[in-house]
Amino acid sequence: MPPSNPSVTETNREPEDLVPRRWDRDWLRQLLRKHAHNHPNMPFDLVEKALVVAPMVDASDLPYRLLTRRYNTSLCFTPMIHARMFLEKPGYRHKFWKYSGMPPEDRPLIAQFCGNDKHVLLEAMKIVEHQVDGVDINCGCPQMIAKRGGYGAFLLEEENGDLIVDIVGHLAKHMNVPVSVKVRILTSGIEDSLVLYKRLVDAGAAMLTIHGRTRLQNKVFTGAANWDHIREVVNQLGDRVPIIANGGISNMDDVKRCMQYTGVDGVMSSEAILEYPPLFTETNVSSTDYKRTGPGRLQIAEDYLKICEKYPPDQGGQGSGMKCIRAHLHRFLHPDLQAHSGVRDAVVGACTMEAAWKVLNMIRIIHEDSGHIITDEQLSWYVRHGGNAERHSGPGRNYEDEKKCSADEEEEDTCCMGRDMFGPVCGDEENGDY
Ligand SMILES: Cc1cc2nc3c(=O)[nH]c(=O)nc-3n(C[C@H](O)[C@H](O)[C@H](O)COP(=O)(O)O)c2cc1C
Repeated sequence: MPPSNPSVTETNREPEDLVPRRWDRDWLRQLLRKHAHNHPNMPFDLVEKALVVAPMVDASDLPYRLLTRRYNTSLCFTPMIHARMFLEKPGYRHKFWKYSGMPPEDRPLIAQFCGNDKHVLLEAMKIVEHQVDGVDINCGCPQMIAKRGGYGAFLLEEENGDLIVDIVGHLAKHMNVPVSVKVRILTSGIEDSLVLYKRLVDAGAAMLTIHGRTRLQNKVFTGAANWDHIREVVNQLGDRVPIIANGGISNMDDVKRCMQYTGVDGVMSSEAILEYPPLFTETNVSSTDYKRTGPGRLQIAEDYLKICEKYPPDQGGQGSGMKCIRAHLHRFLHPDLQAHSGVRDAVVGACTMEAAWKVLNMIRIIHEDSGHIITDEQLSWYVRHGGNAERHSGPGRNYEDEKKCSADEEEEDTCCMGRDMFGPVCGDEENGDY
């Protein structure tokens, strides 16, 4: 058990001669190999590559992670954990961590934290260190709440990068698991980004996840993730630490193309795998004639609810309970909700597990009556903003337009995924409600 009221202790002291712990370049590959028995159907050429579920506030919750792990996901990140709240608010801490231990099948697991105080971050990370395979710092969140809190993508720009470099160095000296950083491309360009990434690795970062977009590529301006930039990072730093590519991975064709083009050690998916957790299987790709080969969306929703019954997402599973469950159902079942407003209303109003199961029964009847064909299912929520063309590579963005959009949206922006039909889902710092 961690102390009930953790306080900054001897981890604050920094002996002069303490040096960052260096991890073998192959630590990630070795970790994946150790857990490879969990994925008997993994294609041979992917056994040593990481197929990663992204950190997602109120969305990469424990039950969701367990669901994706059934389908070749070989590494998961927790949702971002706010380090200071984790230390100071017992309610938040208990919602975010099971001190009796996460289920053994939820490995390998990297716990992601946000913050800008190295002592607070270290104290929070130390609480979970013995239950995870790594800890990560969120340097990717582009939202107003991150700007106000001085974390996420904005941390990369603080003090010309000196602050994040110092944080990484401090954590790497004291943590007994690899410390990784999830970054975006700096708005000043890839050259400046590479300089900063190299400083992070010099300071002791054991892995970098490169979200191939800038912080201005957000919301309607999300646009393409730049695989050329990711390839450049691999060229310059890939012999020192594993590099994970993030941005615009929507199926196994993307996974393979991205690995081939960039040479990364793994790929991370967020929005697409949220909608379809078996994304890391051969389904809706050229070799299957773009047919879905995995389970249908209704089956996925049922499996998720069953796991939630065993591991409720708000009891140490990093989720907000029914709000988290409703949001998952919304994404899994998007086409049904679009076509049937009654079902949509039923999801919005589902405040109990019983009500959630009723939604699935409604959809089962609709599918039976309409002769629903699972192999024809396609991503729908993922392409809600007008298709997934140019989600990766493609032409660069017009930063002037993006800056304008960003400024227009700043005032209404509230959290990592903005407002949706379920309300703001992350970071109400006043009451610690996620
Ligand atoms: C619902 C949601 C929550 C997210 N929360 C986090 C988070 O907690 N930490 C983080 O680093 N990124 C977070 N992100 C960003 C994703 O990890 C990822 O970098 C981004 O969505 C790009 O990947 P994609 O193109 O595959 O969607 C979140 C994204 C979504 C959609």
